[in-house]
Amino acid sequence: MSFSNMQATVYNDKVVRQFTIMAVVWGVVGMLVGVIIAAQLTWPELGFGIPWISYGRLRPLHTNAVIFAFGGCSLFATAYYVVQRTSQVRLFSDKLAAFTFWGWQLVILAAAISLPLGFTQGKEYAELEWPIDILITLVWVSFAVVFFGTVGTRKVKHIYVANWFYGAFILAVALLHLVNSAAIPVSLTKSYSAYAGVQDAMIQWWYGHNAVGFFLTAGFLGMMYYFIPKQAGRPVYSYRLSIVHFWALIFTYMWAGPHHLHYTALPDWTQSVGMVFSLILLAPSWGGMINGVMTLSGAWHKLRDDPILRFLIVSLSFYGMSTFEGPMMSIKTVNALSHYTDWTVGHVHSGALGWVGLVSMGSLYYLIPKLFGQKQMHSVKAIELHFWMATIGIVIYIAAMWIAGVMQGLMWRAVNTDGTLTYTFVESVKATFPFYVLRLLGGTLYLSGMIIMLWNTLKTATSGRSVNVTIPAAAAHA
Ligand code: HEM
Ligand code: HEM
Repeated sequence: MSFSNMQATVYNDKVVRQFTIMAVVWGVVGMLVGVIIAAQLTWPELGFGIPWISYGRLRPLHTNAVIFAFGGCSLFATAYYVVQRTSQVRLFSDKLAAFTFWGWQLVILAAAISLPLGFTQGKEYAELEWPIDILITLVWVSFAVVFFGTVGTRKVKHIYVANWFYGAFILAVALLHLVNSAAIPVSLTKSYSAYAGVQDAMIQWWYGHNAVGFFLTAGFLGMMYYFIPKQAGRPVYSYRLSIVHFWALIFTYMWAGPHHLHYTALPDWTQSVGMVFSLILLAPSWGGMINGVMTLSGAWHKLRDDPILRFLIVSLSFYGMSTFEGPMMSIKTVNALSHYTDWTVGHVHSGALGWVGLVSMGSLYYLIPKLFGQKQMHSVKAIELHFWMATIGIVIYIAAMWIAGVMQGLMWRAVNTDGTLTYTFVESVKATFPFYVLRLLGGTLYLSGMIIMLWNTLKTATSGRSVNVTIPAAAAHA
């Protein structure tokens, strides 16, 4: 058989392997920077007066590394794996797929250099300057071509629901990136937003919230709909619910952005629209969570000795928790207390560490042995240990931030009978110190678990070998 014929009959798992390994590597790097900035918030002198490692520059490095490098590589890896298996064809274009891998690594490298140097557009989660934004656009368009090309050439009639979520994630992120990053360059390293004032703020948080909805949620729901049924050995609890879940979620997310701008110059009615849609968002979010958890019906006992399944199912409990908390925080009177406080940071990390982190780890643990021709990871005990370190780490992190956040909010609004403030701001900072130490402890535990995962991954990869998996001749359901 000629080489090209052989290629046509096997899946392209090379690019999946590359993204998988880099997801784990970037996970360690991004979380390490998270631990460093958590230490800097506890002991500010840890910046040592060096601008490149100051908190203000490392913070966007952390958010970009964990969201776009760790989360992004996990999404690329799983999307490419899932779309091939559920379409029963090889990726649409090997060359473009390879370009997405190298291009995305270049974006990450450019971020890791430019952010510490202080180059930024000043928009949260969209800090990278315009030349990098152009590279992101090229990579993303190629991703869309590879993904939709594969769906378009599928050998299975039906488009499995996981692909709907991955597809929505790819299209929405393209739209968000193009609109929010529109800027007028003045030099290679400096540009100004195409929008001004309150419109700029509105567009930024339309982007910001949908980055949560589509980058940090929709793609990971794609993972949930493929890897939970696979690992549990059960079909999705309700396929009908998964379709309702899809349309309700993508419709509702688009309107919720203004909850980031309560009590600002944004017209009051837009704030109310944002709040109402955020409250509605609870329903599709929980519908999806229930669909994922109930997939275990009749197989609950598997949770007892399958640490991978535990990662996946516990991620859903954190998803449920953060998507209950989010709508509550979007209520204007609640937001009056929570905004500017560490409560928001706690909410972010119950979603980020609990949902995004655990669902990625579970899916990657499922993938890694398969990609390297092994029956299981090098050490199942190490997966177990990772699970407990991560879970305990998250609980310490978010509990500390909840207490700190509510305390800060209450201290800032406390007034004496004569109308003067009861506490100075610095008193609230002092009171927060023990909670910052606790957050550092939780974060260090979470990072340590990730380091164990890196060790386990490298051991599995080096003791196995890259395998070519043949595409089944008769198209059946994956
Ligand atoms: C070892 C684990 C981690 C630690 C110790 C950590 C620590 C931190 C710290 C100290 C901040 C700054 C908080 C502030 O501004 O007051 C932060 C912000 C943030 N982190 Fe993490 N982080 C970790 C993992 C992650 C992961 C895995 C994700 C996403 C998948 C993530 C997403 C974010 C986001 C989105 C923000 C910005 C929050 C906001 O603006 O409210 N973090 N993190
Ligand atoms: C129904 C779902 C959700 C709703 C309605 C919601 C709502 C909210 C609200 C009201 C805030 C505070 C805004 C402020 O006071 O500044 C917020 C912040 C945030 N949420 Fe959520 N949330 C949801 C789910 C999630 C999930 C699942 C994640 C993570 C995976 C997440 C990540 C974030 C981030 C990163 C921020 C901080 C943004 C910033 O200020 O930089 N949210 N969310």
